[in-house]
Amino acid sequence: MYRNFKIVPNIIFGRGSFNQLGDILAPKRVTPDSYIVFVLDDIFKERPLKNRIPMEKGDLLILVNVDNEPTTKYIDQLVAQIQAYNPNKPVGIIGIGGGSTMDIAKAISLMLNNPGSAADYQGWDLIKNPAVYHAAVPTLAGTGAEVSRTTVLTGPVKKLGINSDFTVYDQIMLDPELIDGVPKDQWFYTGMDCYIHDIESLHGTYINEFSRAYAEKSVALCRQVFLDDHPDKDDKLMMASYFGGMSIAYSQVGACHALSYGLAFVLGTHHGIGCCITFDHLEEVYPEGVREFRRMMEKHDIHLPRNLTKDLDEQSLQTMAEVAIGLTPLWENCFGKDWQQIITKERLLDMYRKM
Ligand SMILES: NC(=O)c1ccc[n+]([C@@H]2O[C@H](COP(=O)([O-])OP(=O)(O)OC[C@H]3O[C@@H](n4cnc5c(N)ncnc54)[C@H](O)[C@@H]3O)[C@@H](O)[C@H]2O)c1
Ligand SMILES: [Fe+2]
Repeated sequence: MYRNFKIVPNIIFGRGSFNQLGDILAPKRVTPDSYIVFVLDDIFKERPLKNRIPMEKGDLLILVNVDNEPTTKYIDQLVAQIQAYNPNKPVGIIGIGGGSTMDIAKAISLMLNNPGSAADYQGWDLIKNPAVYHAAVPTLAGTGAEVSRTTVLTGPVKKLGINSDFTVYDQIMLDPELIDGVPKDQWFYTGMDCYIHDIESLHGTYINEFSRAYAEKSVALCRQVFLDDHPDKDDKLMMASYFGGMSIAYSQVGACHALSYGLAFVLGTHHGIGCCITFDHLEEVYPEGVREFRRMMEKHDIHLPRNLTKDLDEQSLQTMAEVAIGLTPLWENCFGKDWQQIITKERLLDMYRKM
């Protein structure tokens, strides 16, 4: 069975394209009461981007905090905040920020049209009703959240996305000017999320020409960004992220992402840095990719945290390994149908103890 997957129907790309956001949203404001909710990463609270948002009378600006990656509880609170603000639904939800903010905006737009808690929909295709119109403006590049059909949330019992065709954005705006000036470490970690998506896709058993075409181009762009220091590196990283996301949409991620989910669940390690930490321990699985990744780290003088699990008790380590080993499709993509003969909980525990 081949998957028939949905992609973002409207994309605008280019430096300064953010200035067109007002024009793009205008047709959505169908009545004088129509209003739009802008979901902005609170890092921009005092920055000029905030004043460039095309707010009109009745619109709501919500500043979201992403010091912790998004939780279902936070989504439920934000949805309640919008419902308290105006009993009518907004005509659009616009997420402006990195992967976390883009995921928050996706989840809000779904939950405004689906009853209950966001936690009820963590899984695959549980959403019944289409979302409110939603658009994203990335201010970090690498996660591919702008193109994916998931919004990754930590719930009361699991960290799992709301995966559905309705999750996919209606519109994305890729303006490379917005990723200028991101602190180097964050730029690197989020960018490496993309590079790792490509390597896991290319070296997985699910690979096909569709995914290969996107991943090869994405890797080439990542090299220009992280090894060649290309003058157009912001434009290139934005497209690398998009292509990397398109690649995994039709293949899958692999061992690095599986291990990073264990770290995130137990230690709250953020996605980009978590993937870098686990990838650095996977030279046996992705030898060329890991060596190139280390060259990129060296070039940018990146030093990964070590001994993260040193003080962890046995139970926490067990939980970490259980979370990771539970991600069957990722392991199957990495090692094939017989992956369980290669990956055991003991082997994962050994790896985690070294991190
Ligand atoms: N939906 C998906 O397909 C998907 C895929 C991968 C990751 N994710 C999710 O994305 C999140 C990680 O996203 P991320 O790596 O983009 O980081 P992020 O959104 O978590 O942000 C990281 C930090 O960078 C700051 N920041 C954002 N834009 C900035 C800018 N222009 N300048 C300076 N600082 C800025 C944020 O305030 C935050 O402190 C995780 O929650 C992860 O689960 C989702
Ligand atoms: Fe990722």
